[in-house]
Amino acid sequence: MRILIADDEKNIRELLRDELAARGSLVAVAENGLSALALLENEEFDVLLLDLNMPGLAGLEVLKKLKEQDIPTEVIILTAHATVLNAVEAMKLGAYDYLMKPFKIVELTPVIERAYEKKKLRTENLLLKTQIKKQSEVRTLIAESVVMREVIERSKKVAQSDFPVLITGESGTGKELIARIIHNASARADRSYVVINCGALPETMIESELFGYEKGAFTGAQAKKPGLLEIAHEGTLFLDEIGDMPLSLQVKLLRVIETGNFYRLGGTREQQVSVRIISATNKNLKSGIEQGAFREDLYYRISALTVHLPPLRERKEDIVPLIEHCKRSNPAFKQKQFSSDALKLLSSHSWPGNVRELQNVVHHVLLLSVHDRIEPADLPGDLGGQPGSGSIRLDDLEREHILRVLKQAAGDRNKAAEALGVHPRTLMRKLAGYGIAS
Ligand SMILES: Nc1ncnc2c1ncn2[C@@H]1O[C@H](COP(=O)(O)OP(=O)(O)OP(=O)(O)O)[C@@H](O)[C@H]1O
Ligand SMILES: [Mg+2]
Repeated sequence: MRILIADDEKNIRELLRDELAARGSLVAVAENGLSALALLENEEFDVLLLDLNMPGLAGLEVLKKLKEQDIPTEVIILTAHATVLNAVEAMKLGAYDYLMKPFKIVELTPVIERAYEKKKLRTENLLLKTQIKKQSEVRTLIAESVVMREVIERSKKVAQSDFPVLITGESGTGKELIARIIHNASARADRSYVVINCGALPETMIESELFGYEKGAFTGAQAKKPGLLEIAHEGTLFLDEIGDMPLSLQVKLLRVIETGNFYRLGGTREQQVSVRIISATNKNLKSGIEQGAFREDLYYRISALTVHLPPLRERKEDIVPLIEHCKRSNPAFKQKQFSSDALKLLSSHSWPGNVRELQNVVHHVLLLSVHDRIEPADLPGDLGGQPGSGSIRLDDLEREHILRVLKQAAGDRNKAAEALGVHPRTLMRKLAGYGIAS
């Protein structure tokens, strides 16, 4: 608990400081209102013990400023009998409680405890609110087809248990969205949801991210860092692209899943966590097992429950709703409409890149079309637009779009990748493919 004592009487200040520090709190002192305020603005305190009669900025003024600035510290007023009216005023201004001087330390400590509890509750509430807000920002999942509605049903069902879930499906089918839906529908929904992409990070980094490390565990470990497993405690850890997890880490991960125990890198104290594991892969893990790239025992652990996402070509009823969804994403697209011929072509395409590819193509076409009505000729060549008759090739379209987004992101590849909805590594690969120097 971090406590600030603001009192102009040296004796009181020091007595309280020693008593409270001896009880295990971190205590700072201020001898007038101004320096109290300066401290409050720069550091976070849980509780402020505030004397009302101080020279310079009086206690009530400090309290007013604190509330104006939304500083979340709880305030306990310390006051002499003569200023009891002020104490009432202070309560109106939002002080937590007040004590009449002189008081005994045994009278003070329970009040501090309660103020601290209140502060913690308030902070937790705030956290919860922002989390809920974040959750409602989770992108809408379109599921009109019968198969997709079954997938949603199944996801909600598996969310009810605490067993590991493996989500399978081709690239771009929506595995990340489903992982999020499972977490949100689970009993852990109001706890943390932590994602690690095993395909995107080098082996040593996956390890240090997952397990954390102690100071000095390796060169560059200048301070200790908790692992994502600890951060996900009581919540969900989403292991994306688990098929890319190196064999050496698979052993360690297996142990965590089996026991909930692990060590930070360089650590000697065993950590214990309760984490729900959701994994996803677009690879065939069974053939990975045959090739010796994936441990069979880990596979059985992570796939206690499974959710399979069918490719978009097997749920064509979703295509038009997905196009509508994409149109809604940008007000500038409102006027634009696909002709029924264009929709037919889009609906009959096989979409090897699934929803991600559909989204990209629709987005680019909407962005680049000069007319409000989009005809087959406006679609990329392999979708039925006539190649060579002024229509654009899909990869040209993609290249141009990538370059434009990169420019908007002022060359920041991570930002550009985020805007494009692809992994930075995918973006790098594409850039290399287009011969754009990296
Ligand atoms: N049913 C859906 N409704 C709306 N958007 C969707 C749907 N399915 C996927 N998307 C969108 O398509 C894109 C790709 O989805 P996601 O990242 O979940 O795919 P993935 O299966 O994880 O692919 P990969 O294996 O390549 O990582 C995302 O932008 C996602 O929001
Ligand atoms: Mg993914």
